[in-house]
Amino acid sequence: MKLLVSFVFLFSTAVLSSLTESTSSYFNVLDYGANGNGKKDDSEAFLKAWNDACASTEDNPTLRVPFGKTFLLNPLKFQGPCKSERINFDLGGIVMAPSKDEWSNDGVDKWIQFYDIDSLTVKGDGRFDGQGSSWWDKDCHKHCKRPTALFFHNCNGLHLNKTKHVNSGRNHMSINNCNDVIISDIHITAPDESPNTDGIDISGSKNVRIQDSFIGTGDDCVAINDGSSNIDIIGLTCGPGHGISIGSLGKDGDYNVVENVYVSDCILQDTQNGVRIKTWEGGYGYAKNITFEKITLENVKNPIIIDQHYTAYAYRRKNKGREIKVSDVTYRDVHGTSANEKAITLDCSRARCTNIIMEEVNITTSSSNEEAKSFCQNADGKSTSTVPPVPCLSKSH
Ligand SMILES: *[C@@H]1O[C@H](CO)[C@@H](O)[C@H](O)[C@H]1NC(C)=O
Ligand SMILES: *[C@@H]1O[C@H](CO)[C@@H](O)[C@H](O)[C@H]1NC(C)=O
Ligand SMILES: *[C@@H]1O[C@H](CO)[C@@H](O)[C@H](O)[C@H]1NC(C)=O
Repeated sequence: MKLLVSFVFLFSTAVLSSLTESTSSYFNVLDYGANGNGKKDDSEAFLKAWNDACASTEDNPTLRVPFGKTFLLNPLKFQGPCKSERINFDLGGIVMAPSKDEWSNDGVDKWIQFYDIDSLTVKGDGRFDGQGSSWWDKDCHKHCKRPTALFFHNCNGLHLNKTKHVNSGRNHMSINNCNDVIISDIHITAPDESPNTDGIDISGSKNVRIQDSFIGTGDDCVAINDGSSNIDIIGLTCGPGHGISIGSLGKDGDYNVVENVYVSDCILQDTQNGVRIKTWEGGYGYAKNITFEKITLENVKNPIIIDQHYTAYAYRRKNKGREIKVSDVTYRDVHGTSANEKAITLDCSRARCTNIIMEEVNITTSSSNEEAKSFCQNADGKSTSTVPPVPCLSKSH
């Protein structure tokens, strides 16, 4: 009997230790001294947990932010590269930014940064709360260096899954110099009137896919900026906000390029713009091969718009003759309602927009006493079954 007991004891110890071994790839911030009471700064605990996870040689180390707690984090940077091939940031609870008065690092304009980390997955039902309202008032919004909530730089193979993002002081997320990114089932919200609270800003990145997500903020739901290519946005519901934007490109006379953008199965609700391409005068470069298809518009102010006349007088003079060339843009199966009569605006520069294709576009006004209209200059291309008709484009059948 005694022998059996000690055998069972030995056996279960072995099982237990193998269990702890397999769970040891979890790095729970509570084990690193995080309080999770929403009041005390937990940054140090997060950084310690991250450093251990990042140095771990386990297969799939996971930094765990447990459910049911709120963690106050001062501005911080999660730095790679990490030892393992992939790494997870498992967000169960709430991560909260300090409000403006408690913002410790003066002049730091990013809250949480992820740097040089390959195959990072940020997932979970938890929430990043930027506590932005203190940054939005009229005085501050022009003069303060307001923070971006999440800044991903050089994170190839990044996945974001299910997370929620609320009330950033400025844009909610920047994807900068990251290739092969999948963002899915995420939820970003901030009030309609909150300034510059873009959902997702993409720059310098290739092969980025945003899918099955909701974004409703005070500015662009998604903005696709310089150096971005092969960007897919599929199944996004957007609004309120400024819609889905390419650009702005060419600010301050810069050379900017964007190509191969595919936006489909998206709904835009009560937004200032629907699908927009915006460029500055005096900048140069191109935006090409861009497709918007299966787009539903609900009471959108500028449903389809190319605006090449953002004006910066200094650069317009200095870079006279330089232009951003817009070409190969297709709008297919775009339908719904416009909040005002200007349903389609193709306001192109002298370089002309070329190969603009419209097929099965049908936009009516949400008020019954106005008729939807098109406005265009310097645009060439073709339209089929397009209402309202676009006079610059030749009709084909
Ligand atoms: C998101 O996570 C769920 C499990 O939580 C998984 O089934 C799904 O494949 C993930 N999506 C992506 C795009 O990685
Ligand atoms: C246009 O972009 C799509 C991706 O949206 C890509 O599959 C296609 O190859 C591109 N076409 C050209 C001519 O580059
Ligand atoms: C455009 O949409 C309106 C409203 O849904 C509909 O009444 C009209 O028949 C459509 N026109 C075309 C040409 O499809």
